[in-house]
Amino acid sequence: MRSLSGIKPTGTLHIGNYFGAAKQFEELQKKGYDCFYFVADYHTLNTCPDPNELTENSWNIVLDYLAFGLDPEKSTMFLQSQVPEVVELAFILGNVTPMGLMQRAHSYKEKTDKGELINVGLFYYPLLMAADILLYDSDVVPVGQDQKQHVEIARDIAVKFNMQYNTEVFKIPEPLIREDVAVVPGTDGRKMSKSYGNTIEMFASDKELKKQVMGIVTDSTPLEEPKDPDKCNVFALYKLFATPQEQALMKEKYRAGGYGYGTAKKELLEKLMQFFKPMREKREELDKNRYYVERVLREGAQRARSAAVEKIKKVKKVTGLVGNIY
Ligand code: ADP
Ligand code: TRP
Repeated sequence: MRSLSGIKPTGTLHIGNYFGAAKQFEELQKKGYDCFYFVADYHTLNTCPDPNELTENSWNIVLDYLAFGLDPEKSTMFLQSQVPEVVELAFILGNVTPMGLMQRAHSYKEKTDKGELINVGLFYYPLLMAADILLYDSDVVPVGQDQKQHVEIARDIAVKFNMQYNTEVFKIPEPLIREDVAVVPGTDGRKMSKSYGNTIEMFASDKELKKQVMGIVTDSTPLEEPKDPDKCNVFALYKLFATPQEQALMKEKYRAGGYGYGTAKKELLEKLMQFFKPMREKREELDKNRYYVERVLREGAQRARSAAVEKIKKVKKVTGLVGNIY
């Protein structure tokens, strides 16, 4: 069984990425899945016009992958752009994809509904993602809730292609979404996202991490009054790290009154630091050993590319494209 997923290199990982998606990457690796995890750099060209930033962030995501426990012996890691066949497949898939399906994609619809000017790259985004998924015969795609529609589009395209060409060349993938952490809230209560600037980054410096946690938005209930834990962003995040007993204890303190949000934030920060400490240390080590990281990428890309080339040959054959013969 193959598990495949990607993360866009738009910064370093935040805890929404970790609990929503990346933690599952590691769990599936542990369960013995054949894992392909890549850095979605082509996808990021759309929002990042700065070449140095794109390169640096791509590198950051690979370090993050390794630091939170992906093992290159068990998981194939690579940059999306190391396997250009994915773009070729996206182009081919575009020819069996109805316009309506693409026009309904959230990524495109949200922006056009607001009247924003968009480029073709954004419109094409779900097609490229479908190509990522179908090129490597993925069985499961671990993602957060916001990516569910994209995986469903990939399924629709695979079914349509297989029917049109009377073939089974594409496997039909399943999204894998952990319902309990499908949408991790950000410091302002909206979905945690780099594009909202409301993130808590697992690999930020101690100082920055503290600033992010202390900046969580809370209501103005005075310290002495009882508070509702279920309406509080601090508690929503604390739950991710705490045992059921610890959660019950904090709930009691909220309800009893005399317990301020500042103290709750400090408890959250402590838990968070403790949880991510080994990963943060590992990342610091890896950052000093760029040769190793380069080797991981080179070897990962070789494995990914050989699978991709085989698949593209089959796709060309069923579509009547004879480019691989001559
Ligand atoms: P961002 O929204 O910050 O740009 P990405 O789009 O790169 O993050 O997301 C990478 C992965 O992390 C995807 O699988 C996405 O569904 C998941 N993810 C991102 N934010 C969250 C969140 N707040 N809660 C749960 N999963 C998330
Ligand atoms: N679109 C995904 C995101 O914004 C990233 C991504 C690109 C992806 N290609 C993928 C995720 C293929 C899963 C599978 O987070």
